[in-house]
Amino acid sequence: MSEAPRVVGCTIENRIAWVSFNRPEKRNCMSPTLNRQMLEVLDDLEFRDDVGIVVLTGEGTAWSAGMDLKEYFRETEAQGLRGIRKSQREAYTWWRRLRWFQKPTIAMVNGWCFGGGYGPLHACDLAIAAEEAQFGLSEINWGILPGGGATKVAVDSMSMRDAMYHAMTGEPISGTKAAQWRLVNEAVPLANLKTRVLELCEILLKKNAFALKATKDAVRRVKEMTYENAEDYLIRAQESANFFDNDGRKEGIRQFIDEKSFKPGVGTYDISKQKKS
Ligand code: ACO
Repeated sequence: MSEAPRVVGCTIENRIAWVSFNRPEKRNCMSPTLNRQMLEVLDDLEFRDDVGIVVLTGEGTAWSAGMDLKEYFRETEAQGLRGIRKSQREAYTWWRRLRWFQKPTIAMVNGWCFGGGYGPLHACDLAIAAEEAQFGLSEINWGILPGGGATKVAVDSMSMRDAMYHAMTGEPISGTKAAQWRLVNEAVPLANLKTRVLELCEILLKKNAFALKATKDAVRRVKEMTYENAEDYLIRAQESANFFDNDGRKEGIRQFIDEKSFKPGVGTYDISKQKKS
């Protein structure tokens, strides 16, 4: 780990890793130091047996106020192209790592979420926001386009009209509206945010972890495939998941057909009864 002040928090409780942007005095904007520390933390968590899920949240009033305009833009630009490309690489690397993370990930958006914050937001599999949170593609407000994938995130999540309005006006929207525009799964009052995220964690922690990883990758991958390619990809994806876990689905079938202990349409099989892969 680097010796810079810690600007990323991480605590593990009951198989949930709570990872936080931890620069509340700077509204958790992403500096190069923060980006490096995020990658270190994700590296550490990805294959730990005591972690089943990662929740990404922010300390204080912000989730993340986007890129650090001073440390990420102004100071790296002063170093020329080498500095710019290095800081971009550091940011994009941890977002990419998060997009394809081994464990399920949830963005718990407690407050401000701007610009570059849409990178890690989109990287998380699921996103639950506080109704009081504020989301914005504020780039246009300070004279740039929404880069770093932010435009792509808006277009992939929202209708073209909403994405265009959002990007061109730079007006912030509430968590409630972000849910209506499908930027997040749902919005709940801030006071209930952690409870709702915990409920979701409980649901996911009961699922077969290999099947979850294969499922989340499949949802992202097939979006840009033809039907034929998707069909083929999904066959291969299941077969390769079987390489790591060949007993889960057999146990699921057994519990339904032979034991009659659950119904897959309305519940989940008991993963504790399956052989460890
Ligand atoms: N980059 C650098 N510093 C920031 C950023 C940022 N993105 N966001 C906040 N800060 C700093 C402020 O400069 C201030 O520092 P100081 O105490 O040394 O003066 C401190 O964080 C607190 O910020 P305030 O503006 O005082 O906090 P407030 O709660 O009143 O407002 C808000 C919060 C609305 C988030 C405001 O800080 C803001 O507009 N931040 C910028 C949001 C933004 O547009 N981000 C860039 C998106 S584009 C991109 O990411 C590529």
